[in-house]
Amino acid sequence: MKNITVIGSGTMGNGIAHTFAQNGFNVSLVDISDAALQKALQTINTNLDRQIKKGAIDEAAKKATLHNINTYTNIAEGAANADLVVEAATENRDLKLKIFKQLSEVCKPGVILASNTSSISITEIASVTANPANVIGMHFMNPVPIMKLVEVIRGYATTNAVTDTIMQLSRQLGKDPVEVNDYPGFVANRILMPMINEAIYTLFEGVAGVNEIDTVMKLGMAHPMGPLQLADFIGLDVCLAILKVLHNGFGNPKYAPCPLLINMVTAGHLGVKNANGFYKYTAGSKDLVVADKFNPSVA
Ligand SMILES: NC(=O)c1ccc[n+]([C@@H]2O[C@H](COP(=O)([O-])OP(=O)(O)OC[C@H]3O[C@@H](n4cnc5c(N)ncnc54)[C@H](O)[C@@H]3O)[C@@H](O)[C@H]2O)c1
Repeated sequence: MKNITVIGSGTMGNGIAHTFAQNGFNVSLVDISDAALQKALQTINTNLDRQIKKGAIDEAAKKATLHNINTYTNIAEGAANADLVVEAATENRDLKLKIFKQLSEVCKPGVILASNTSSISITEIASVTANPANVIGMHFMNPVPIMKLVEVIRGYATTNAVTDTIMQLSRQLGKDPVEVNDYPGFVANRILMPMINEAIYTLFEGVAGVNEIDTVMKLGMAHPMGPLQLADFIGLDVCLAILKVLHNGFGNPKYAPCPLLINMVTAGHLGVKNANGFYKYTAGSKDLVVADKFNPSVA
């Protein structure tokens, strides 16, 4: 396995491309937006500089990593030579089904098609391809170059051989893969999202403010970041989409998204990605500038 195509160059796609390229793979990074591709290359460049500063890599490794990445706005061109495709496009079921149908038509036989989806059924994604046995979930965590976990999700038809290949490949990237089955939210988000949703309900019901809720969870539970700040980092739109999948998939009201989360997403407050969520951020940075008690008229 040498040629990896990554579809989508946003938060996750650029990290996935960075990680494969740094480990010597040829990466084709595909996005419908040329601006997104340019931004991704810039982000990768900045993150490599950060690794150099920390002494984790040297200038030669940075150069080699950037050299291993080519960008495309045409999916057929970008995926033609792929041994593995990792799809990290927007979390939208219809979009992913369309992309996988197209990948199944344009890729060479034997290709493994992986999705980085946070919650959409791998079995359903696989069902639109010619070879569902070769479709699998490869759920990286944010930020990809740093986080060790890859949740490897077996669809209903995924073979042992494909699962073993992806487990081994994840280890080659320096990650610790964990194999799970394909049910709504898999493991990571089935447990994480109800906690985030409950934190939002706690705020919504006026039990405590943003800082208080996050501080309780940081200092009391030894979480490195509070659930509301984590939601901002993940993206409030992504959190809402995952909760809807859990709610629809299990039909259990305990997964119903908090009305406050729905309102914030509807108002376009998406978290770090547009500098506005439970906290406010300096545009283009992940640094908090305001961590106030929640005020609905402001947020
Ligand atoms: N953000 C997280 O913390 C996180 C963590 C794990 C998994 N995920 C999953 O990773 C995936 C990507 O999430 P993200 O946060 O990087 O989203 P994002 O919004 O930052 O990036 C999505 C990118 O996909 C591109 N795109 C949309 N349609 C496309 C198409 N047809 N072809 C190619 N590119 C297309 C967009 O232009 C955008 O650049 C989602 O499935 C999400 O659930 C996200």
